[in-house]
Parts: sequence; structure tokens; C-alpha cells
Amino acid sequence: MAKSSDIDQLSGRRLLQQKLYLPCLTLGSVVILAVIFMPFIGQVGMANPKTAQTIGLWVHFLGGLHPVFLHLPIGALTLVLVMEFLRCLSRGKYKPQTTIGLFFTAVTGVLALIFGYCLYLTGDFEGELIEEHKRDGIIFTVFVILTFLVKYTTDLHPNKKKWKALYVFLLLASGGAMIGAGHHGGEITHGNPLDSLPSKILAARKSHTLDENLVIYTELIHPILEEKCISCHGSKKKKSGLRMDTYRHMLAGGDEGECLVPGDLKKSGLITTLHLPLDDDLRMPPQDKPQLTNDEIKLLEWWVKAGAPETSTLGEIERSAEIDKALESTLGN
Ligand code: HEC
Repeated sequence: MAKSSDIDQLSGRRLLQQKLYLPCLTLGSVVILAVIFMPFIGQVGMANPKTAQTIGLWVHFLGGLHPVFLHLPIGALTLVLVMEFLRCLSRGKYKPQTTIGLFFTAVTGVLALIFGYCLYLTGDFEGELIEEHKRDGIIFTVFVILTFLVKYTTDLHPNKKKWKALYVFLLLASGGAMIGAGHHGGEITHGNPLDSLPSKILAARKSHTLDENLVIYTELIHPILEEKCISCHGSKKKKSGLRMDTYRHMLAGGDEGECLVPGDLKKSGLITTLHLPLDDDLRMPPQDKPQLTNDEIKLLEWWVKAGAPETSTLGEIERSAEIDKALESTLGN
């Protein structure tokens, strides 16, 4: 008894499947064509919510549904892939019904695509990444509809090996297209997840504070002088005949003596004036002006001692852990 009702059910299902086949095939083909022609309907920014009339506002509203729907085809197709993988593993003993899953993937895929296109028309997102994502989304949707139609055909002709092979190929292609579309889409809103790998963050941190390509004079020394010295020793004010706004002027020195003697801390007025008592007339910067920090003094001394190179980079000059610390705190600010 149980067996014959099973058979009844099976053939009932088969009948229904046969009945719906042609409508599905027709509808699927029409949708594929529509999807391919969709990008020619309008341009990015067309439905800008700030300037758009009622229809544009509806487009804007529908665009907001894209993030709600886009995960449905991803989840459904992933489940189908897992089921088919298990079918392989069990060597055909496990026979999953994936057709309905593919139907669901195709329908939600089309919806996600339409809403995504609405979002595109608002112009809230623009650029190369968006264009790529739009293209990937269309490819994915077409592949998924084709996969469904081919699987449907395979169900009705279970003995045709060619259809089965085509189904496997399209399913894998859909999976690939899904990864492409999903990756670009995620990059648009969340950035590249691989950028958050601990190793990448640590490397970025290191190179952020201490960029070995930093030119010491122009990017480290000059900015310190600019902030604390050049207001009095520049092209406008030249106290004591001394200019420090260019490397040449520093070498030329002032009325009373040398400013910069590469390699010699004791002869360089740039350094000696920093260590004079606060009430000394030659103490620099003068008592009532913003003073150098200890780290800044250390860095100036390190640079002069190393021969005051004009073009060398950080990576080219030897430095102690103490200098690294001073560099980190000075460049960090
Ligand atoms: C508020 C203005 C002012 C600032 C800021 C200033 N100076 Fe001076 N600087 C002077 C004056 C004024 C003299 C002349 C002092 C004197 O002869 O009594 C002078 C003289 C000098 C001299 C001697 C120049 C010579 O005649 O040979 C050196 C070297 C010098 N300053 C370096 C510096 C350095 C390095 C800084 C920044 C850390 C600095 N100054 C910031 C006003 C300033």
C-alpha cells in the first residue's frame, strides 16, 4: 500500500513538473533577456534622491532593499552546492532535490539584481568598482537562471548525460560568479576583508610610524625647524642674518657664526644654542617662544651627527632604539 502511494506521489510530482516546464522555460528566457538589457535602461545618478521626482524616490526606496535581499541567493546557492557536494561524497546514495533551491536562488537573485540596479541609479555609489559589481551581478543572475532551467531539464530527462554535465558546469560557474559579485559588493561597503588580516595590520602599523622611505631632511628636520625656528630665521625675518628655510642657507650660517656643520655637534649653532641656559641671549628658541621637545633635540643631533644628509631616507641612516622611539612620537603627532 505504502509503496504504491509513494509511486502515486512521485508520478503526480512528475506530472506537475512536466506541466510547469514550458512556462518556466519561457519565463526564464524572457527574464534572462530582460536582465541582459537592463543596464541600458538608465544611467548612474539618474534617480538621485535629492533631485528626483516621485518615481525617482521609489527607485531610491527599492535600492535600499538591495542589502536585504542580496544574501538570499548567496545562502540558497551555497546550500545547493553543499548538497551536490554531499551527493558526490556519498557516490549518489544521497539524492538531494536541488531544483527548488535553484528556483529560489534564481528568483531572489533577480530581485537582488533589480534592487541593486535601483541603488545604482540613485548615484549614491559610483566608480569602477560599482561598474564591475553591476556586471558581475548580471553574470551571476544569468548563470543562476540557466542552471535552474538546465537542472529542470535534467529532472525530466534523467538519463541524458550531457544535460547533467552541463548542469554541473553551470552550477560551478554560478558559484564562481557569486564569489566575484559578492567580493566586489562587500568591498564597496565594507572594504577588502583581507586588509584586516592581523599580519597586514601589523605591517601597516610598522610602516605607518616608521616609513623607511621618508626623506629625513625634508620630511622630519625641516618641519621641526619650520615650526620652531623659521618664523625668525626665514625669508621674511632673518634674525642675526641667519636663514634656516633652505638647506643651503643653513650651511651659509649667520652673522655670528656657523649654523650647520655636518657631523659636528659642537660647531653647529643649530645644536649649541639649544643647550644654552634659558636666560642666555643666544638661547634658541628664545625663552618666551615654544621650545623644542627632548625628542626633537635628539633627532636634530642624530641628523647632524650622521653628516646632516640632505636627501637620505630613514632606511639609509643607522639609528638606535632610542631614536626609533623619538621618531615614532614626533612623526606620530
Ligand atoms: C623669536 C625669534 C627667534 C626664534 C623662534 C629663533 N631664533 Fe634664533 N635667533 C633669534 C635672534 C634675535 C638671534 C640673535 C641673538 C643674538 O645675537 O643675541 C638669533 C640667533 C640665532 C643663531 C646665531 C646666528 C648667528 O648670528 O650666527 C642661531 C644658530 C639660531 N638663532 C638658531 C635658532 C634655532 C635653531 C631656532 C629654532 C630651534 C631659532 N634660532 C629660533 C631669534 C629667534
